[in-house]
Amino acid sequence: MPDSPDAITEFEARIAAGETIEPKDWMPDRYRKQLIRMMSQHAHSEVVGMLPEGNWITRAPTLRRKMGLLAKVQDEAGHGLYIYCGTETLGVGRAELVDQLLTGKAKYSSIFNYPTLTWADIGAIGWFVDGAAIVNQTMLAKASYGPYARAMVRICKEENFHKRQGYEIMATLAAGTPEQKRMAQDAVNRWWWPSLMMFGPSDKDSPNSAELTRWGVKRKGNDELRQRFVNLTVAQAVAIDLKLPDPELRPDPATGDWHFGPIDWDEFSRVVHGDGPLNRERLAARRQAHSDGEWVREAASAYAAKHTAAAAPAAA
Ligand code: 3HC
Repeated sequence: MPDSPDAITEFEARIAAGETIEPKDWMPDRYRKQLIRMMSQHAHSEVVGMLPEGNWITRAPTLRRKMGLLAKVQDEAGHGLYIYCGTETLGVGRAELVDQLLTGKAKYSSIFNYPTLTWADIGAIGWFVDGAAIVNQTMLAKASYGPYARAMVRICKEENFHKRQGYEIMATLAAGTPEQKRMAQDAVNRWWWPSLMMFGPSDKDSPNSAELTRWGVKRKGNDELRQRFVNLTVAQAVAIDLKLPDPELRPDPATGDWHFGPIDWDEFSRVVHGDGPLNRERLAARRQAHSDGEWVREAASAYAAKHTAAAAPAAA
């Protein structure tokens, strides 16, 4: 049954008035579908994002670095579970969402298909990837859908720790031996452009931005958020004497923005459609982890069933 025009008009008036939409409120079917798509892919990204970083937990250079990385990876798992819970308020089950990921139907952020070749990559991920996430998620903390916006408030606090620990790793390496500085610069060179791709295609090429903006899910477009991230990061790179790999980077006095060079959208499309450096390995690792965890899910379900049955007579 299509949504009635009157109901949509009333809904859009609520959005225009700055009201927050809650799970039990009426919402257009498209609004629900868009949120399920975006939130579930966000949750998938958080969980898959643990893989590149987890690769360095056993090889962190000091106990302090290992503890910081362990805490970060654990946070990412929590972010994923938190956003899956938010997605479930839209009437979809977690098993269905995870199945969409494992069967390749659902996307996760392209950035997590790149390899972590050296310890400096862990710094670049914290600085660039979590830095980009903060720019994006600070905007989403004002999204019109209540459960998503509230999840972002808590997650952004933790992302700030993630970015700081990454930037401190890079500052330490950049001020270290020539070999450490070269390792940091190499990581910057490999992670900079894929990090700009995290914000998605240009809004003019986005099939979703217009609708998400009209309905107050996206308060800013992909291009504006990307530009904000570039503007924030240039000064940070200068401060630790690392060079962003973009010969066209220059200040634009008219706008106060940093002009940056063209993004390789062919690379973006290849990675988004499964042909990135490590797409197959990431999905295989996620499928293996899901299979390995089957016994835990079975045990939890059996425990819940037993205790629900035991509680039933008392409730009668
Ligand atoms: N990687 C993979 N797919 C991407 C992508 C990326 N970097 N950018 C866009 N896409 C996909 C979109 O999902 C969409 O495909 P679909 O319609 O089949 O889902 C298509 O490309 C067109 O892109 P749009 O811009 O139209 O899509 P959106 O309007 O959804 O915008 C987005 C893309 C900006 C990523 C938006 O979905 C969003 O803000 N999502 C929530 C935040 C999120 O998912 N961040 C991912 C990183 S998670 C993270 O940072 C963890 C932290 O701890 C490091």
